[in-house]
Amino acid sequence: MRRLLITGGAGFIGVNFVYYWLKEHPDDRVVVLDALTYAGNRESVREAERNPHFQFVHGNILNQPLVEQLLRDEQLDTIVHFAAESHVDRSITGPDAFIETNIVGTHSLLKAARQIWLEERKGAGPFRFHHVSTDEVYGTLGRGDAPFCEDTPYAPNSPYAASKASSDHLVRAYHETYGLPVSISNCSNNYGPFQFPEKLIPLTIINALHNKPLPIYGDGKQIRDWLYVRDHCRGIAMVMDAEQTGECFNIGGINEWENIDIVTLICDLLDERFAKNPALASRFPLATKLHAGKSRDLITFIKDRPGHDRRYAIDPTKAQKVLGYEPDETFASGIRKTLDWYLDNEPWWRPLLDAGYSEWIARQYN
Ligand code: NAD
Ligand code: TYD
Repeated sequence: MRRLLITGGAGFIGVNFVYYWLKEHPDDRVVVLDALTYAGNRESVREAERNPHFQFVHGNILNQPLVEQLLRDEQLDTIVHFAAESHVDRSITGPDAFIETNIVGTHSLLKAARQIWLEERKGAGPFRFHHVSTDEVYGTLGRGDAPFCEDTPYAPNSPYAASKASSDHLVRAYHETYGLPVSISNCSNNYGPFQFPEKLIPLTIINALHNKPLPIYGDGKQIRDWLYVRDHCRGIAMVMDAEQTGECFNIGGINEWENIDIVTLICDLLDERFAKNPALASRFPLATKLHAGKSRDLITFIKDRPGHDRRYAIDPTKAQKVLGYEPDETFASGIRKTLDWYLDNEPWWRPLLDAGYSEWIARQYN
């Protein structure tokens, strides 16, 4: 039986991990610590809050005394660290929050874990600090380059990627220097339920439902390797169970797509759904291009993101060989589930629109 602290558990991947864990390990204790930034959503954990094994704590990872108190009082033996500022575009316009949360915040958590697990509890574990990171730390690839593997040198290009790279190094250093039992996973782009609609896939879906432009940065030929979020959660769980501590694992979908092809596919799938189900037109009266089966008309090429990485791709060999990890979901099935989730869960995303997230996105068009 494990007792987990999940940081950032009201965000996209964190909340998917919460539901994954509660289902797979119904006897475990799960405590979420989340500061509820613009990206955190208490509504996402409402269902979990009905479970007596679950507790939500509204707080910041920078608050070391609070983290120490939780580790001590709840006798937590596992930290799964998702909390971060996660959007590259925001890191370009405002990098400070990324330094604060991703670097200083991760260090604060490491200090708390060291204090409680190694000092107070004298290392009488088993304990595990699992750090959730990204493939963006490796920089960018050309079309013919070999995918990123665990020993690809770090070359982060955005303030977001640099802050995550820095946090990875701190986690590694706490293992090498103090013997903190850590693991790190570096994953490719995730998609699925509960993703904040500033990221490409939910943004495309929700803008199409409002007949708004579907912004494509630059020529749209940038490549990402997409993984369904539940497969990421399964991968994290496998890495957390890996016997050897101090190890990094790359997790990916072997599923590379150009951005323009993803957006075009979403348009076609949405057109198809509206054609098959006339009730959707009355639920989404603004979506006139969708009513006419012409949502591709909304695709709008805009100015490129500065320092935009051209291609990410993961070599999953280590996770396959050491952990036996393979994604369950195909892209065809995962993207359909994702579309259906957004169509069926308007009460989840509508308040985000009303709270003005679209003003932020609108600024990107100019
Ligand atoms: P997200 O932005 O959806 O959620 C982040 C969560 O962290 C939010 O709930 C937010 O309230 C919380 N948070 C932010 N600052 C905090 C602080 N100082 N203290 C406590 N809570 C705080 O992010 P996500 O997409 O779910 O990503 C989760 C993790 O996975 C991140 O570390 C990210 O770098 C990594 N990752 C994401 C992807 C992806 O495609 N989204 C891919 C690989 C790795
Ligand atoms: P995003 O979802 O922001 O993830 P990341 O930058 O972490 O890869 O973006 C995915 C890709 O889509 C990236 O190449 C940027 C591009 N993009 C657009 O072309 N238009 C958009 O409106 C957004 C949000 C992203």
